[in-house]
Amino acid sequence: MTRQILVTSALPYANGPIHLGHLVEYIQTDVFARFQRLRGHRVAYLCADDTHGTAIMIRAQKEGRTPEQLIADMAVQHQRDFAAFGMSFDHYGSTNSPANLAIATGIWQQLRQRQLVVERSVERLYDPVQKTFLADRFVVGTCPRCGAADQYGDSCEKCGSTYPATELKNPRSVHSGAAPELRPSTQLFVRLEPLQPFLREWTQASGALQGEVANYLAGHFLDKPLQDWDVSRPAPYFGFEIPDAKGQYWYVWFDAPIGYIAATKEWCDRTGQSLDGWWKNPQCEVVHFLGKDITYFHTLFWPALLHVGGYQLPRRVQIHGFLLVNGEKMSKSKGTFVTAQQYLDAGLDPDCLRYYYASKLSSKIDDLDFRTDEFVGKVNSDLVGRVVNLASRSARFVEATGLATRYPDDGGLFAHAAGMRDAIAAAYEACDYREAVRLAMTLADAANEYVEQKAPWTMKKDPARAAELQDVCTVVLNLFHQIVVYLQPVLPSLAAKAAKLLGSSCDRWDLVERPLVGTKVAPFEHMMARVEPAKVAAMFVPATAVAEAPAPAAKAPAAPATGPAAAGAADAVDTLAKEPLAGEITIDDFQKVDLRIAKVVAAEAVPDAKKLLRLTLSLGSGPTRNVFAGIKGAYEPEQLVGRLVVMVANLAPRKMKFGLSEGMVVAAGTDGEVFLLSPDQGAKPGQRLH
Ligand code: MSP
Ligand code: ZN
Repeated sequence: MTRQILVTSALPYANGPIHLGHLVEYIQTDVFARFQRLRGHRVAYLCADDTHGTAIMIRAQKEGRTPEQLIADMAVQHQRDFAAFGMSFDHYGSTNSPANLAIATGIWQQLRQRQLVVERSVERLYDPVQKTFLADRFVVGTCPRCGAADQYGDSCEKCGSTYPATELKNPRSVHSGAAPELRPSTQLFVRLEPLQPFLREWTQASGALQGEVANYLAGHFLDKPLQDWDVSRPAPYFGFEIPDAKGQYWYVWFDAPIGYIAATKEWCDRTGQSLDGWWKNPQCEVVHFLGKDITYFHTLFWPALLHVGGYQLPRRVQIHGFLLVNGEKMSKSKGTFVTAQQYLDAGLDPDCLRYYYASKLSSKIDDLDFRTDEFVGKVNSDLVGRVVNLASRSARFVEATGLATRYPDDGGLFAHAAGMRDAIAAAYEACDYREAVRLAMTLADAANEYVEQKAPWTMKKDPARAAELQDVCTVVLNLFHQIVVYLQPVLPSLAAKAAKLLGSSCDRWDLVERPLVGTKVAPFEHMMARVEPAKVAAMFVPATAVAEAPAPAAKAPAAPATGPAAAGAADAVDTLAKEPLAGEITIDDFQKVDLRIAKVVAAEAVPDAKKLLRLTLSLGSGPTRNVFAGIKGAYEPEQLVGRLVVMVANLAPRKMKFGLSEGMVVAAGTDGEVFLLSPDQGAKPGQRLH
């Protein structure tokens, strides 16, 4: 029976780039959507940018543009990243759309009609400098419970307690640093308590939630009266003004999930379908994918809104954990906050990340750890070494003849692989991709054993064994085809390449049941490269760090005023790949090198040396140093006199043809392109670099 499935990923905030953490979710969802399509079901995969809220408003203000300009830019960036990673959205919308306003208004009217909206005056923190009410996230201060400094307005990271922002001690606005004032504000609340019986029933008995999620809700929210939900924000706010409450805006989390319906509406309008056929049709299965941090918005507020609005409730809410990088939370300062763009700029193949994540994802909420060595290993030895290799070791032997016209005896390998289809399908259906990939890899193992045993490369040498060779390659390519069909949801571009090679589609599940025979085999084209560890290292270099690095002082070419960050990143990648990072050292190793600020007191060309300038350096006191530096092509001697440089001051003196060199000047680059380093204004000769 053909199912009708509406699949969503959480809508990414428009105030930041897509990163490897987001991609856990979007890849997980995309694999599910592709799997369901592969099975022949009717699928809509919908997503949108989440555009409203204080953060976006303030960022736009700082950047001197309107929020609309900012979100338009981000929409382009997000969709470019998603396209690169193969996301098969049927439609990608925005929460700042007329469709979203219309649907939010409809749900709001229902809430009003059912007396579920109440108005109350509350005291809110107000930034007197920025002239805006402050969202909890934008107030920092001392935790009222444990006294930890620098905690956010809504919760303490130290002791884990939550509290109203008004209780924070010594509060400051993160925007202006000013002490916030308390001002009365009339707020609108949605009453959830009348919906408690419905929510209890839906969360505990509908089967839509993972067991651990249902238990969490029962233990943390449903065990006491549900608090009213504050859904309005006073101006200024970037969002939708509430139609019947001038000067009040819907809190971003009110209209964000409604964006799922709005994106569906836009898609339906575009393709001549009816929205109700998806969102008001009990046959349609709505499946939401999201991260654990936004659980309660999607399992309490959102079902409440859907229920009141008369829409289908989600058949399933699939919640995943967070991405760690080498065992730790992603961190900008540690360079482990890797954007989608950085991954691509490093020259890494998106299918590799899809495969790696899929091979680790289960249906549980556990965090997922990106381990650099494991990533390289899985891609190189499993994907390239065990799957792609099947094709590369057999296809060229049948390029001229094509596949055998009858499927040969293979000792039951093909039938065994075909028999695995229900188990693999069940694993995908349960979002246990780890298991689906594991099963597919056992098939790859069996196929590789067969190749080893038959050794087609030796048959190739004997013209008398041509028919046997064709049979063996027919078997291997058929086993390869089955594996690729099974992995198609994970590896769509590999599947497309395999289809081209074999002249047969890889995008119908039942293809695994019938062997390909008598078809042509296209000339083998490279399918997937091994991952070079240097590229993975390059991925950890943030683009902005490169783009924003101060231009070298002396002869550096002027940095383009408006160079896109991506250009800087590309440079970084090439450079790093050319000269990969050196092995790890300890702080003690580093301390051995005594780097000092030095002043160039004299400089002259060395007549017989092509590259050398002789520099006389002063460390402020003590004798001057004579240093030969290989920078002749890049700097004129006169240019250098008087400027500050960085020198290695404890390097053993070295006798050269032209005299004794008593140290070394530090510079970036090589040969023709050399850049001396300069300290910022104020540094003095003799100061040590730490
Ligand atoms: N805008 C809200 C969602 C609104 S849905 C109506 C939001 N946006 S987000 O950009 O912060 O996150 C989007 C999704 O990515 C969320 O499901 C979130 O859990 C997930 N992830 C964001 N960072 C993540 C990791 N580091 N690891 C795994 N998933 C992460 O929340
Ligand atoms: Zn605390």
